[in-house]
Amino acid sequence: MASKIGDYKYYWKIIVLATFIIIISLSHYVTGTEHKYHGLHEIYRRLYYIPIILSAFWFGLKGGIICAIVVSFFYLPHVIYQWGGNFLTDDLPRTIEIVLYNIIGFVTGFLSQKQMDATRSLKKTVKERDESYDKLKHQAEVLVQTEGQLRRADRLSALGKLSAGIAHEVRNPLASIKGTAEILSDKFKPGDKEYEFVEILIREVNRLDAVVAEFLDFAKPKPPELKLSNINDIILSVLKLTEHQITISRINLRTQLEDSLPSVYVDPEQMKQVFLNLIINSVQAMPDGGILEVGSNRNSSEIVCKFSDTGVGISKEQQGNLFTPFYTSKKMGTGLGLAIVYRIIEGHKGKIRFSTKENEGTTFTICLPIENE
Ligand SMILES: Nc1ncnc2c1ncn2[C@@H]1O[C@H](COP(=O)(O)OP(=O)(O)OP(=O)(O)O)[C@@H](O)[C@H]1O
Ligand SMILES: [Mg+2]
Repeated sequence: MASKIGDYKYYWKIIVLATFIIIISLSHYVTGTEHKYHGLHEIYRRLYYIPIILSAFWFGLKGGIICAIVVSFFYLPHVIYQWGGNFLTDDLPRTIEIVLYNIIGFVTGFLSQKQMDATRSLKKTVKERDESYDKLKHQAEVLVQTEGQLRRADRLSALGKLSAGIAHEVRNPLASIKGTAEILSDKFKPGDKEYEFVEILIREVNRLDAVVAEFLDFAKPKPPELKLSNINDIILSVLKLTEHQITISRINLRTQLEDSLPSVYVDPEQMKQVFLNLIINSVQAMPDGGILEVGSNRNSSEIVCKFSDTGVGISKEQQGNLFTPFYTSKKMGTGLGLAIVYRIIEGHKGKIRFSTKENEGTTFTICLPIENE
């Protein structure tokens, strides 16, 4: 409804009002009082209410008053020179009309101004409400995130307590079983059925021991030993480690590592573990081969590392549990890979996020702050 100066609609409205006033005034002056249709003046002078009301409606109180004054100025010479200008006698109805122009201009302008002010204040309230809603939404998101972290921390502290027990209750007997199996294996020759059984026993004991070791590592994490390191070098060393597995899995590796990344303070061993876990997950997600893209780049205050695969993707139900210790969808998985990754990145004050689409692939993104000392 209201237009501002500078707005093209504002000028259009002025042009419309001016056109109205000019046409009505011309009609007045051209059809003189002696004209055979001079009776039309009764209608002409009432036509002036149209621009006055329109102006009040468009421009509020100021618009109503200014338009009424302009109309009065246009109409006055007609009353003076064509009617005789006897304001208080013969021309009294025309005098009253001029007064009425101004009263109508003022009243309609006043009412429309009130309406405009109310609309403006309503818009302001709606804007404030939207802003509060956005703020609330953001706070709710932070709350959900914090709650997730707390839940994880809770699980982790329980794990810490468990770990001492596990070390004793599981690792020691495992060592005895392994020792006994090794003694037994000396009693049989390769090729014997029993020898094969004992070999299986030793292999499984080793696997169990590795799982327990990984678990202990996770339950009692070491604080990161920060060293000024080149992230690309760490990524390349992990790619070298996994090169063979990538090739035999028929995976096409594409790297895009930005040259001249600034060195950052990280624990290189822990970061190796992060990249290794992510790459191994990607490889395992592409049992029939695919493309693995590994990239690094810098944005204003962070180093961003990306690991994208064209694997099976992660379903909606799985997504909420990814970083939960022991959550796995794999037969032989321990479900500690991503929990370890999460913890290490947290220890480096970094961020981890992922995007995924079922049967299309997954991207994990890691952001490390540049001044991390
Ligand atoms: N790139 C990926 N593509 C598809 N699913 C993935 C990917 N990365 C992780 N996942 C899913 O997240 C689960 C948890 O991963 P995580 O690395 O923590 O454990 P894991 O790989 O199952 O076992 P491990 O302890 O041996 O790493 C996986 O079982 C898998 O379902
Ligand atoms: Mg894993």
